[in-house]
Amino acid sequence: MPELDSPQRQAPDSLMLTGFWYRALPADHVHRNQLHQATLLEIPLVIGRDRQGKTFALRDACPHRGMPLHCGKFDGENLECSYHGWQFDAHNGQCQLIPSLTADQNLKVDRIYAGSYPCEEQDGFVWVYIPDPAPQSAGFTMREEAPDPAPQIEKFGETSGGQYKLAYLTADMPVSIDHGIIGLMDPAHGPFVHQAWWWRSRHSIHEKKKNFEPIPNGFRMSAHTPSSNSAPYKLLRLYASADSITTTIDFVLPNLRKEIIRAGKYWFSSLTTVTPITRNHCRIDVVAAWNIFRWMPFGPDLLKFVFAKFVEQDRRTMELQAEGLRHNPHLMLIDDADRPAKWYFQLKAAHVEAKRTGAEMKHPLAGPVTLKWRS
Ligand code: FES
Ligand SMILES: [Fe+2]
Repeated sequence: MPELDSPQRQAPDSLMLTGFWYRALPADHVHRNQLHQATLLEIPLVIGRDRQGKTFALRDACPHRGMPLHCGKFDGENLECSYHGWQFDAHNGQCQLIPSLTADQNLKVDRIYAGSYPCEEQDGFVWVYIPDPAPQSAGFTMREEAPDPAPQIEKFGETSGGQYKLAYLTADMPVSIDHGIIGLMDPAHGPFVHQAWWWRSRHSIHEKKKNFEPIPNGFRMSAHTPSSNSAPYKLLRLYASADSITTTIDFVLPNLRKEIIRAGKYWFSSLTTVTPITRNHCRIDVVAAWNIFRWMPFGPDLLKFVFAKFVEQDRRTMELQAEGLRHNPHLMLIDDADRPAKWYFQLKAAHVEAKRTGAEMKHPLAGPVTLKWRS
């Protein structure tokens, strides 16, 4: 007998996962020898670029008496706190100088550290690795290194000297990380939120069937031919003179959505992240790379325009949703349209559990699954 379908009550816990890389700032906002503030997972950061152009990230609080370090001076190498002038190496946070010490006072200055985080520049963004919280020994711990490099956008044809364009878009969302992410993977809001004459209207709603499969730390919407009723895809098919256009969409913990569209020798690849800033606030960053329309002067602008519209529609929706969420309503997730959202919560719980027990993570998807919905 089939199981009775009842909507599942679900309360997002807004837990912000540590032990991952997060996008902090667009790289073109971070200038040489300047200090910038950023917040990730409620951690205040000061981010900068040294004399050589290499980026760094320190906790924006002096280990002496907590003064924000972004108020200090930076000479391109060391950061000087504005309160008592202690100096720290920008890259590893090690204390270099305490001006108040007299010649006969032998405090071991080099054992003091400002909190410091692994920092990398990748595809136009400064990424910061947020480690699992260390046992409290503030001020005397060296930083933890990241086990892997920061995530990259997948690009194709680079070995044959392939060229591509890169662009980014960013938008603040006044909702928790969980609402930001499930809003991103939600297939049912499209016809209502993203209406446009050149895209689709609510009259174009029809039944869809998509195959999903488990991948490490996430799930994949398997390669499929995108909805044929949308103008951009018709255009693309014509332009690439390719018979098949395939799209793959991956979601990977903690917050990565990778989309790859391939049509013959042309490709479009994006990496979207939803970054927890505070418990009630996240930011969405879309970075895209492509070799389609590369030779057309208005190509990138057109793409940026289309994406900006989408992201703005999502941002506005979440802004309104935040008003409703303020009153702590019951929430529900239904099958099949909200199944990816359920998987997200299950993945998160499995990840946390695996970390707690040290056992291997139990993946919520046992194998390929087909989902159906109307959108
Ligand atoms: S608070 Fe930074 S040097 Fe004292
Ligand atoms: Fe959307």
